[in-house]
Parts: sequence; C-alpha cells; structure tokens
Amino acid sequence: MAAPTGLTLDQIDLSDQAFWERPLSEREAAFQLLRRERPLAFFEEPDLTEASPLAPPPGPGYRAVTRHADVVEISRHPEIYGSSQGAVSIADLPSEMVEYFAGMISTDNPRHARLRRIVSAAFNPRRIASIEDTIEQVADRVIERASGLGECDFPTEVAAPFPLEIICDMMGVPPSSYATVLRCSNVILSNGDPEYVPEGSDPILAFIEAGQELTDLMNDLSAHRIDHPADDLTTALISTNIDGESLTPGELASFFILLLTAGNETTRNAISHGLLALTEHPDQRALWQSDPDGVAATGVDEIVRWASPVIWMRRTVNEDTVLSGEELRSGDKVLLFYNSANRDESAFDDPGRFDVRRSPNPHVGFGAAGPHFCLGAHLARREVTVMMRELLARLPDIEATGEPDRLHSSFINGIKHLPCRFTPR
Ligand code: HEM
Repeated sequence: MAAPTGLTLDQIDLSDQAFWERPLSEREAAFQLLRRERPLAFFEEPDLTEASPLAPPPGPGYRAVTRHADVVEISRHPEIYGSSQGAVSIADLPSEMVEYFAGMISTDNPRHARLRRIVSAAFNPRRIASIEDTIEQVADRVIERASGLGECDFPTEVAAPFPLEIICDMMGVPPSSYATVLRCSNVILSNGDPEYVPEGSDPILAFIEAGQELTDLMNDLSAHRIDHPADDLTTALISTNIDGESLTPGELASFFILLLTAGNETTRNAISHGLLALTEHPDQRALWQSDPDGVAATGVDEIVRWASPVIWMRRTVNEDTVLSGEELRSGDKVLLFYNSANRDESAFDDPGRFDVRRSPNPHVGFGAAGPHFCLGAHLARREVTVMMRELLARLPDIEATGEPDRLHSSFINGIKHLPCRFTPR
C-alpha cells in the first residue's frame, strides 16, 4: 500500500537525506505507513565516508522504532537497550569521540547515574523556579531588541538568542562568548547543513574543531573559576567530588558541550515551531491569547509533541530479546523515532490535530520515562511558557509570513529561518 506521498513501504529510506528534504506532510504519511505496516523496519546505515574520510564505514544497519508503545518499552529498559555505544549517532564513532561529544547521554549505569547526579540539582523544578526572573529578563531583552523592527527572521532574532543567553548564564559563560557558543553548537548539531558547514569542507573535521573551540572556552572559564568561584554550573562541575573522585578533563569538556548544545538547539526550535503552529491554527492562538497561563499548562507540551524538536535517539540491544513479537539480537541498533511516536494513532486521539488544550498528552518529545529522560525538560517548559506569554502580550499580532527554511537533518527538527511580521512597538 502506498502512502499519500506516493512512496511505497519499500521506497521509504530513512537513511537517505533526500527523504528528510521531502515536505513534512509526506514524511508524516511515510511514518504512518511504517507504524501500521512495518513498525520495526530495518534500514542500511548512511555512508558518511563520501562526505568525510574521517567517517567510519557504514555499520550493520538499524531498526526504526516508530510506534509509541515500543519507544516507551525500550526507554524504560536500559539494561536491555543501552546508550553507551552512542545515543546520538547511528555510526559507532570511536569511543573517544562519543565520550567527548556525547557525554552522559551516551553512557549507561553506574556511570550515567554518577554523572547525572552531578548536574541534576541545577535542573530540578525548584531550581528552575528560582531562575524564573532570569528567564523573564532574557525574554524581555530579546523581544525588546526585535520589537521596533516590525518584521524579522524569527529563529535568528528571537528564538535562538533566548535559550542561548539563558544556558550561557547558567553555565557562567560571558556575553562576549555567546556568538562563539552559538556558532559552535550550530556546527555540532547541523548534520553538515551547508549553511553552517560550507560545502566542500569536511563536516566531521568542522564538528571536531567546533568541539575543540568550546573545550578551549571551558578551559579558560574553569581556570578562572578555580580562583573566582561563582553561583554557576561551571563552578559546580569543577568542584564536584563524588566518592573522592573529581570529573576528568574529558568529562568536564563533554558536560560543557552537551549542556550548551542540548540547551541551545532544542528549545529554540520548539519556539519557532510554536509560532508557526499558532500562525497556522488561528483558533488555537486565540485560545492561548485569551488565557496565557491557563493554556500554557497544556499548550507548551502540545508544541513539543507537535514539533518533536529531537527526532530520534539511539539504543543498542545488550542481549537477545523480543519486542512486539519481533526478535532482536544483541548488538542490534534501534533508533527511537520520537516524531513518529508523537503521531501514533494508538496513543493520541486525533494526533494530526494541533490542540493546545490536549490532555492527557503522553508525548515523548523529551524522551519517554527512563534514566535518560531530558534533563532540561523543566527548564525548556519554563522557557517556552515565558516566551509565548511575552510574545503574545507584547507583539500580539506576531505571525509567521513565509515557509520555514528547515535544517537539513534527520536528527534535529530545526527551523533555521522563518520570516515573521508584527506591529512595531
Ligand atoms: C524543547 C526542548 C527540548 C527537547 C525537545 C529535548 C529533548 C530531549 C530528548 C529527546 C532527550 C533524550 C531522552 C532519552 O534518550 O531518553 C534529551 C536528553 C537530554 N536533554 Fe533535552 N530537550 C530539550 C531541552 C533541553 C534543555 C533546555 C537542556 C538543558 C541543558 C537539555 C538537556 C538535556 C540533557 C543533558 C540530556 C541527556 C540526559 C541524560 O542522558 O541523562 N534539554 N532531551
């Protein structure tokens, strides 16, 4: 049976970048077909050696997990489905590279629990409530800068600087380095998009260089913090001592890179997708505008479900097992497609409807329950809540005026550019 895209089941290739360049509606139809007909479909791995001689040759392939129930099942069994071979890449990168770039997101217990304990307090609801003023001030500053313009490129002028400035502030990164952090995190999560990694240059080399630049930044900052401790995450990281053990320089660098990139490249896309969705669904926008605090309680999670800013995470099967009646072997790679799980008809009533009052909303945009569930979920929810409230109050007629220019990536559902218009203040 063919999806409305015209793609038959056998024509769908999630490893082909061309698939991800197709219009969203066509991709969603293809995922619907996969969920229905082949929920653990096998795909060959993309061949990255064509783009970079530094890339490892393609591995044995992966299963695409597209149903909500299977994503939930895998996430809550880390002993069967591990993360340490690489949660954020399909290829098995050399272990130094996984460790350096992926940090705790690519570790299993007991190491994962040890690493997560170090930073979890900084992201718990109480701590995030205590930085509400900072979140509001940054929203105020960012909107103020754009408010006289009357029109602008929403992601670069509003959605990107907002979480960037908040996570940098939490880490103690000075404003003079914001542009460097943004440039480097764009490269690290760009999947080689030519806007961030110019055509002809080696995407893996660019990725390594961006990581090195952030590490240099962290080394300077932490050297300074040794003599000048402050109430920030970098001070917490360098003074951490669990059972007499400090973080190694490699662990410190990978924490720094993970927090900056995860804190930056996700919320911004949720906010841009939020503006797009509210523009395309004026009735939902009117609801939000009439009761910003009431609706945000459900609307923010609906934006995360709708957008699925992180498209997938990987796990590797640790022991032979059976999932939904299919045999999986030790060593098999599985990719959890959150975008597909978030449109699963068996988990959501009318999943193709953007409904800011959706409740219950068991979306897996932040991952499903399990040890790796998004560390920044409380922060991200507060950020989206405050930004939507302030935008709709201060630029009440703001709307997207063109098509989004999407990131060329199967991993991050990014919007690079989105023109918007509003009555200038
Ligand atoms: C709307 C915004 C966000 C979305 C959609 C999102 C999504 C995700 C997803 C899908 C995972 C993987 C879950 C899993 O493997 O089970 C994750 C993990 C993570 N996220 Fe987020 N995230 C967002 C915002 C943030 C922010 C603001 C931070 C702040 C630093 C952050 C930090 C992290 C970290 C550190 C992990 C790894 C946790 C671990 O392995 O224990 N995220 N996020």
